[in-house]
Amino acid sequence: MSGTSDGGRTGGVQRWLRRLRLARKAGKAAAVAGVAVGARRALSRKDRRRPVDRPVPLPHERSAGRRIALLFLVSTAAGIGLLVLYALGGQVQLEGALLAVALGGIGIALILWGKHLFPHEIVTEEREPHASEARTLETTQELIEESEEAITRRSLLVRLLLGALGALAVAFVFPIRSLGPRPGRSLFATKWRKDMMLVDGNGVPIRADTLDVNGVITAFPQGYTTSADSVAIVVKVPQDVLRLPAGRQGWAPSGNVCYSKLCTHAGCPVGLYLAATHELQCPCHQSAFDVTNGAEVVFGPAARPLPQLRIYADGAGFLRAAGDFTGPVGPGFWNRGAQP
Ligand code: FES
Repeated sequence: MSGTSDGGRTGGVQRWLRRLRLARKAGKAAAVAGVAVGARRALSRKDRRRPVDRPVPLPHERSAGRRIALLFLVSTAAGIGLLVLYALGGQVQLEGALLAVALGGIGIALILWGKHLFPHEIVTEEREPHASEARTLETTQELIEESEEAITRRSLLVRLLLGALGALAVAFVFPIRSLGPRPGRSLFATKWRKDMMLVDGNGVPIRADTLDVNGVITAFPQGYTTSADSVAIVVKVPQDVLRLPAGRQGWAPSGNVCYSKLCTHAGCPVGLYLAATHELQCPCHQSAFDVTNGAEVVFGPAARPLPQLRIYADGAGFLRAAGDFTGPVGPGFWNRGAQP
């Protein structure tokens, strides 16, 4: 059993008549005696490629083709606009709008293409126990070829589609530049260098006797008082309570010990000092670090000690660094086991 809509039937008759004319042109009268399929097969490939033999698009197909081409052009222009806008510095809202136009243009054009330029015969039949008849196979092949031709014969639309997709692809690839240069080893180092003087937030040098016992002060490398990753904290403790890790004797002139001020849990500034227990506390999640013992974690979620800065007092009593921190500061991928 088979059936078609009225529109489909009308379109089918038109196509049948068109094929009939083509077959006659090709001089294949025998094919015409059969069905429309035969007419189609009567044409050689070469014949089909000749512009003069191509089926003349129906008015609504021509109109749809124009709309589709326009949408592809708009999409291409939006893709190129996105690329140019990004290269000029970008503007988020405008970039979003251009992306929407580029993707929307391609999407709507493909929908129109499928709706208006592809054959729409609706054919139903009973499922039979035997293999399909030769005629059914021919009809199927005919429909497949017709669908292929619906794409290939519209080479302009295909090129415009490829152009729109290409512009969009380039616009997507370009933002890779936003990743910036590779960080290299910069994540493992701060501004601290050998013999650099410790200064406070105002750039005033810190001396070994600046603090009283149990006093604390925030320190920076001289000339880098805005360097966020270099910020340190100096705590002065009684020298007899110090039990720094092996190899760090002499790192606390007159009881001044210096650690990174960035919490190793989530990067908050560790600024609270509990003199009774000699602990630096982080106000965010209450991690506590023992300043007498290399800032080992004694409480809280921090995974590792605060990196220590080796310092010494120069001949005039000013505190200076002997190098960089003992490890990368703050939280980061190194907390997951990666090391320089
Ligand atoms: S940031 Fe310091 S404990 Fe969480």
